[in-house]
Amino acid sequence: MLDKIKQFVKESFEKFSPRENFAHFERTVFWLLQLKPDADEAMQIAAYAHDIARAFRQETTEDVFQGKDWNDPEYLEIHQNAGAEIVKKFLEENGYPNDKIGRIAQMISRHEVGGDEESDLVMDADSISYLEVNAARHIQKLSASLGKNKVKEKIDWMFERIATEEARKIAEPFYKSALQLFEDEWRNKVHEEYDSFVFEKIKTLLDSHAIEYKLLHHEPTKTSKESAEARGEDLSVGGKGLVLKVNGSFKLFVLSAAKKLDSNAIEKYFHAKGIRFATAEELMQLTGLVPGSVPPFGRPILDLELYVDNSILCNKRIAFNAGSLTDSIIMSTEDYLKLVSPEIFDFSKD
Ligand SMILES: [Fe+2]
Repeated sequence: MLDKIKQFVKESFEKFSPRENFAHFERTVFWLLQLKPDADEAMQIAAYAHDIARAFRQETTEDVFQGKDWNDPEYLEIHQNAGAEIVKKFLEENGYPNDKIGRIAQMISRHEVGGDEESDLVMDADSISYLEVNAARHIQKLSASLGKNKVKEKIDWMFERIATEEARKIAEPFYKSALQLFEDEWRNKVHEEYDSFVFEKIKTLLDSHAIEYKLLHHEPTKTSKESAEARGEDLSVGGKGLVLKVNGSFKLFVLSAAKKLDSNAIEKYFHAKGIRFATAEELMQLTGLVPGSVPPFGRPILDLELYVDNSILCNKRIAFNAGSLTDSIIMSTEDYLKLVSPEIFDFSKD
């Protein structure tokens, strides 16, 4: 009967939802057998067919969950019961034993929430298979339409609902790599958008003031030294942008790349008891930028108060990574200072 059910599931999805990925169903059965090697045919049928209600659903996943939690009790109830009914009807028509049909219907009608030993096993196998097979697809496919937090909620929920210790152990590496992928996807997207956004904003600002500047596109540079080499300029010409937390608020400090930050000078200037660098995480939240790509601009480019060190004034030109690790701008220091009108004081040392 398992083969018949597989055929039925495939035909149902092909009719209504032709892009379904059957690997999730195959793997649910596989993981069920890992958790319970003697799982009988009835259990395997429930595992394979647990999601069949989706084949008969009219709306897309995006439509259904736009304004609804993944574990919305009402939706789960409908989804589980509809699946149980569909499979029950098919099995009855095919003369399957009634007691087994009863168990299968129960497992499917509880596969999202569990509640008894067999249902828990199907639910756990479903969770492992989801994290293994579907999570990556969801991250790539649904983030744009449903938002990243929503996709994360689904991944978290699928892991958290797991009932047995053994299943949790198996699922953990899949869960971790799904979260990693989620982070990477999100970071890459945010980076690309923000990098070019900041870069465009700077160019527009310079152009609107009819300021002359030189644009350089180069390999990604992570250090001031690499940047100077890529630009063919002296290290001292580089303007290093550092975001520091001073007296509870973040401020942007710009100094020559050949100099070091003199934190004592800053503490003195602001009567601050301790200052610290913004973490990469904070920098991302404040500016959308990664360390090394912060341009020496406060408002209107970055929403930060701007302070410039006297070492910048020693050079005729200033060069900087313009909101991206691969784009540099070189312009006259005079134009730069006129444009950004910063507060200037000494906060560098050799
Ligand atoms: Fe599922």
